[in-house]
Amino acid sequence: MAPLTSLTTALLFSSLASASTIQFNIARNPAAEEAQLTRRQLTNLYKRAGTVNVALTNAENQGLYFANVTVGTPGQNLALQIDTGSSDVWVPSTTASLCGNAKEGGCPNGAFNSKSSTSFQDVETNGFNISYVDGTGSTGDYFQDTFKIGGATLNNFEMGLALDTTIGTGIMGIGYNTSEANIDTGNGTEYPNLPLAMVNAGAINSAAYSLWLNDLQATTGSILFGGIDTAKYSGDLISIKVYPDSQGGRTTSFTVAFTSLSATSSSGTDQLTPANYATAAILDSGTTITLLPDDIATSIFEELGATVSQQLGAVVVPCALAENSGTINYGFGGTGGPTIKVAVSQLVLPLTLTNGRTPTYTNGQAACQLGIQAAGDLPVLFGDTFLRSAYVVYDLENNRIALAQTDFNSTSSNVVSFASQGAPIPSATTAANEDQVTQTATGVPKVGTTGTADGTAAATYNPTATGLNAANGFAATSTSTSTGSKKNAAGAGPEPFAWSRVVVAGVSLALAGVGGGVFTLL
Ligand SMILES: *[C@@H]1O[C@H](CO)[C@@H](O)[C@H](O)[C@H]1NC(C)=O
Ligand SMILES: *[C@@H]1O[C@H](CO)[C@@H](O)[C@H](O)[C@H]1NC(C)=O
Ligand SMILES: *[C@@H]1O[C@H](CO)[C@@H](O)[C@H](O)[C@H]1NC(C)=O
Ligand SMILES: *[C@@H]1O[C@H](CO)[C@@H](O)[C@H](O)[C@H]1NC(C)=O
Ligand SMILES: *[C@@H]1O[C@H](CO)[C@@H](O)[C@H](O)[C@H]1NC(C)=O
Repeated sequence: MAPLTSLTTALLFSSLASASTIQFNIARNPAAEEAQLTRRQLTNLYKRAGTVNVALTNAENQGLYFANVTVGTPGQNLALQIDTGSSDVWVPSTTASLCGNAKEGGCPNGAFNSKSSTSFQDVETNGFNISYVDGTGSTGDYFQDTFKIGGATLNNFEMGLALDTTIGTGIMGIGYNTSEANIDTGNGTEYPNLPLAMVNAGAINSAAYSLWLNDLQATTGSILFGGIDTAKYSGDLISIKVYPDSQGGRTTSFTVAFTSLSATSSSGTDQLTPANYATAAILDSGTTITLLPDDIATSIFEELGATVSQQLGAVVVPCALAENSGTINYGFGGTGGPTIKVAVSQLVLPLTLTNGRTPTYTNGQAACQLGIQAAGDLPVLFGDTFLRSAYVVYDLENNRIALAQTDFNSTSSNVVSFASQGAPIPSATTAANEDQVTQTATGVPKVGTTGTADGTAAATYNPTATGLNAANGFAATSTSTSTGSKKNAAGAGPEPFAWSRVVVAGVSLALAGVGGGVFTLL
């Protein structure tokens, strides 16, 4: 696998000391009972008490989702990037040097002037600190102030104030309160973060929300706090477990069991994972692409005719692949769990060099970027190129995620609120065989070699033996395919970082001087 280090990649991560690993095995217990509930008949109400609906803007060329909020008294307008992979809301301060430096990008989505807010209270000086893997980050104070979002008002809401930051946009982390940054770097006390603060304010009944990111081409999606919208998905909404860290035993991220992957084209379906496959994956709206285990990524690259280009520092596909009618199908929670089909067209992202041009293959075809990469040393993260195709309900009270196939561009609405704090996800059924997927707590995960729960070694996947190859009906016409050898598809599992966020944006032209490549750059 070619190194992908030249991508514009920023990884938010917690202190490695607290990082732990998670592994899934499939227990060989076939007789799990199917618990199919009948979907309730629901009254069609546009707006329900106990929910807060917030429109999200899909920022052009950024692949990130922003929510409008106001902070302080009088309210100051900011757009914050919504992030299920972290747990603090933080805003850049107008005094941060980046915000005064337009040449470096400034703070285009707003900055907060604490001196102009009559309700501002500093609660922990220097308590806020999020560090990036490349040494960049945001630091400052924790403060409390009035926070308004989607018609809800939260008084004395606790946030980070980035007095020093290298990111010009505030982030709205809505993950578990066990991953708040101050637990590692501040006074270590959990505070009610956004979902809990909404419950405490009586705006919603339970710490839960539903994320509908919508089509790649659409400019808006939405997040519904405290409820689900049954008009925004098709098929059944099926819930699966969120797994705790194997070491700490605490639930700190939206880690679910990813249990199958297949690719469907006009010529049929290729299964890309072995039977009894399971690995941990984090659902992370703050990550723009999807990071798959290396071996599975290699299989996908072969299916789609993608090349890992060192010349471009990107996984490259012909832009014409966007016309392909195939799908990549992701399964969760074992057999009987939800399967989300991601259209190949949703995976073809623009590839723009810093000189504004689109690279072409030497045969003149336009080159695009694939919205899937190999995770390498990073955790397996299912970001926006997966999440757009799913309607996802995050239930922080019961540690469950419910998934259904999204209904792109839906204009209707049928909102159902959580009945009470800790109530189950409305309308969701439980994945029938999820109990067969068990978490093990020993060392670095190697599903294929450490064996299943009863001590039987799981079969090592050999795609050649299954007759899979790249000639599969995907109309890819790139110049070459990856020849990387496939090891055990299960591979190593992720290290769940407390603050997962990987932003893959444009491709730097720094490497464009490399000659003799298969791409024409100028
Ligand atoms: C957020 O606010 C900006 C500026 O007022 C506006 O243009 C945009 O439409 C708003 N976005 C949403 C999703 O409401
Ligand atoms: C933030 O945390 C990092 C990592 O723990 C540390 O190196 C750095 O000095 C801290 N920054 C501030 C301003 O406290
Ligand atoms: C730190 O502790 C103080 C009280 O000791 C509390 O008021 C404050 O909210 C805490 N800060 C954080 C970020 O938890
Ligand atoms: C943290 O989250 C858990 C689960 O939602 C909740 O029970 C607990 O009260 C929260 N703690 C704080 C301080 O809000
Ligand atoms: C959704 O709307 C966008 C923008 O109008 C359009 O480009 C796209 O094709 C639509 N998607 C579907 C699946 O209809």
